[in-house]
Amino acid sequence: MADTAKISIGGKTIDLPILKGTTGPDVVDIRKYYAESDTFTYDPGFTSTASCESKITYIDGDAGILLHRGYKIGELAEQSTFLDVCYLLLHGELPNAAQYEEFEHTITYHTMLHEQFDRFFQGFRRDAHPMAIMTGAVGALSAFYHDSTDINDPEQRMISAHRLIAKMPTIAARAFKYFTGQPFVHPRNDLSYAENFLRMCFSVPAEDWKPNPVLTRAMDRIFILHADHEQNASTSTVRLAGSSGANPFACIAAGIACLWGPAHGGANEEALNMLKEIGTVDKIPEYIQGVKDRRYRLMGFGHRVYKNYDPRATVMQKTCHEVLKEVGDENDPLLKVALELERIALSDEYFIERKLYPNVDFYSGITLRALGFPAEMFTVLFAVARTVGWISQWKEMIEDPAYKIGRPRQLYTGALERPYVPVDKRP
Ligand code: CMC
Repeated sequence: MADTAKISIGGKTIDLPILKGTTGPDVVDIRKYYAESDTFTYDPGFTSTASCESKITYIDGDAGILLHRGYKIGELAEQSTFLDVCYLLLHGELPNAAQYEEFEHTITYHTMLHEQFDRFFQGFRRDAHPMAIMTGAVGALSAFYHDSTDINDPEQRMISAHRLIAKMPTIAARAFKYFTGQPFVHPRNDLSYAENFLRMCFSVPAEDWKPNPVLTRAMDRIFILHADHEQNASTSTVRLAGSSGANPFACIAAGIACLWGPAHGGANEEALNMLKEIGTVDKIPEYIQGVKDRRYRLMGFGHRVYKNYDPRATVMQKTCHEVLKEVGDENDPLLKVALELERIALSDEYFIERKLYPNVDFYSGITLRALGFPAEMFTVLFAVARTVGWISQWKEMIEDPAYKIGRPRQLYTGALERPYVPVDKRP
């Protein structure tokens, strides 16, 4: 391809540089386009627009490939721990044994929350959705940890990243406990990240949580699968919020708010509801017909980027089987519905034509339910895992010399300037 693209507009030809990444499609650099053409580009939903340069995550949606810092998601999910992946995303390389030990120690020793923070939860109604609690509570972190909100200090940026990765499970477990009406459980430093989280969720004063290596590994793997996903809606929200110079805790709260939507992180909750609604295998054809009639979408299917099987869905399906076997729920009727729905959809022309494949959320709902979480917690778990991706992307942006405040333009189609109408003259 030539090194410049040419756009002819208003009798003028504008040369636009073509930028090359290490892999993936080339990118036409339109930064000077407005100054030279006096026109904007129009791209609602950013389907053709790269909003930043990044070295963190690469997705080839046609081939179904997801790499973090060059490593395949399947290999990371099989061979790494979540904290290994956190270090990789934050620092760019997998840690050696000494680095891992130090990182794990740092995260473990930041898991406690300020005592006063606990009282903050009492302000929410008992029936508050845990995601509503998460949005408020994480935003409130900036009111408790002022000493790590100076975004121009690299050390404070790293401390805020550590605090967020460490405290998210504690906040999420408290949101769960508050929602279920049980007392809060404090973190314990002798447990791993996933063990600690499961214990804070499932231990009660009358009975401590019993560790189960299969379930702990599944939780850790689910965290790995959700750790980062390039410039998706919530990550772009975090970057946009951060571009104004907002502190990292406020930016992550913005990301959580965006993640809540059913087209994004809320999809696993919706996917499980859908499987429950279908209920039995014989109802699938009727349900599929409703999708084709465009009455609703098949939740957990389709993706803006993947036009192939989502590589995270492959690992999630395997994890789902392992968890159901461990908890003695191999014959879960919802799993039967999911497997059959997947089989039918993958052989149906409607879905083939539109390249609609299962995404990570298709099996995560059944798996999380088997781990003991109610549907309201699913997106919360996604937020716990995605925090490292958000903060790594935020940090990368702040450290990029080319970064500017994000300020998209618009195609205005509203009223032209007109005289003000006093109230007694209004129709
Ligand atoms: N079920 C049925 N049809 C679908 C679906 C679906 N889940 N997704 C897309 N389509 C159809 C859509 O109707 C359209 O058909 P046509 O060209 O005939 O009008 C075509 O596929 C393209 O759809 P689109 O809306 O232009 O695609 P998009 O890239 O804007 O949407 C998506 C991506 C994820 C929002 C969408 O696939 C969807 O709503 N999926 C269900 C929700 C879901 O599972 N979300 C989780 C995404 S993975 C986790 C995450 O990253 O947060």
